Amino acid sequence: MYSINQNIINLNPYKPGKPIKEVERELGIKNPIKLASNENAWGTSEKAKKAMQESINEINLYPDGNSFYLRKAISFFNGVDEEEIITGNGSNEILTTLMRIFLNEKNNLVIGEYAFAIYQIVAKSLGCKINKAKTNNYKNSYENLINSCDENTALMIVDNPNNPTGTYINKAELNKLIEFTNKNKIILVIDEAYLEYVRANDYETALESFKKYDNLVITRTFSKAYGLCGLRIGYAVCHKWISDLYNKVRDPFNVNLMAQNTALAALKDQEFIKSVVKKTHAGIEFFYKEFKELNLNYIKSETNFILVNVKEDGNKFFKKLMQKGVIVRPMTGYGFKNHIRINVGKEEENKIAINKFKELING
Ligand SMILES: Cc1ncc(COP(=O)(O)O)c(C=O)c1O
Repeated sequence: MYSINQNIINLNPYKPGKPIKEVERELGIKNPIKLASNENAWGTSEKAKKAMQESINEINLYPDGNSFYLRKAISFFNGVDEEEIITGNGSNEILTTLMRIFLNEKNNLVIGEYAFAIYQIVAKSLGCKINKAKTNNYKNSYENLINSCDENTALMIVDNPNNPTGTYINKAELNKLIEFTNKNKIILVIDEAYLEYVRANDYETALESFKKYDNLVITRTFSKAYGLCGLRIGYAVCHKWISDLYNKVRDPFNVNLMAQNTALAALKDQEFIKSVVKKTHAGIEFFYKEFKELNLNYIKSETNFILVNVKEDGNKFFKKLMQKGVIVRPMTGYGFKNHIRINVGKEEENKIAINKFKELING
């Protein structure tokens, strides 16, 4: 008998958004529009592209195993020490590695009921218990998160804003979570993948509290507003005792050379981020207006995507929309039977998507 980790046998793998090429191949649809993976429709910064091209000349060399120059730039950008920055092959790798460090079969992870799916998948593979906190009106509740903790809780992960709901916890709620977890020796990871898009006045990045709390980790990504998800690069701000642990178990060259050089250039081009965020907000407002006209309930979002109730089986709606050349994401895996998630694309793409919605809804 082969020895297989039993926790993995019954695991349901993460289902990513359907790739454009797959839809073209399987359904014979030419140039479908993909609004399914919260990607950035406007590409990436020209400066980042230049750095990427220049990296080709060095690609025969191993990358810097410590991402020295990138970590230096990120630490400066965030006002923390270089040893308080860790980098990963997407923020996903960082989240996974932190879970491997802190979770085991004897303890538990606390997450919101609609937290990003990866947290659960990885935690299940590690055999720990998962305590899910009920939300209030789709929004993470700091009280329920705290009440879901017990003496065996090792880690709490909160995506703020939350994927797939687009909701957020405010500054006061976040501070309650930080105080509680710090007092109870629980690691608190705040996943800020969508930080750049937030408009709510009472939102605060956990970075503001970072210096005072040694249990706090903040993950960020170059995948969303920076438009580099194909390259796989993310980072986290954490205290040295945690970065030391991370560096013991991560792969030696976890961040490739092109990703390091490109992210460094992308970070310096904040004008690009501003323009992406502005166009994204215009797209969000367009969808709000159109969904209202179509009488579809949606959840107000602080991200580049919206969870919308299509008043029928979300999987069926997703398939019918795909036949019309628009790829969105069904949300049944998260327990949303009648919702789909759609992200903002270019103005023209948003208009086409809404027209296809209208065809399906109005007949
Ligand atoms: C909330 C959240 N966290 C983390 C990630 C992972 O991002 P990446 O690994 O591309 O940095 C995603 C990706 O969709 C996300 O939605």
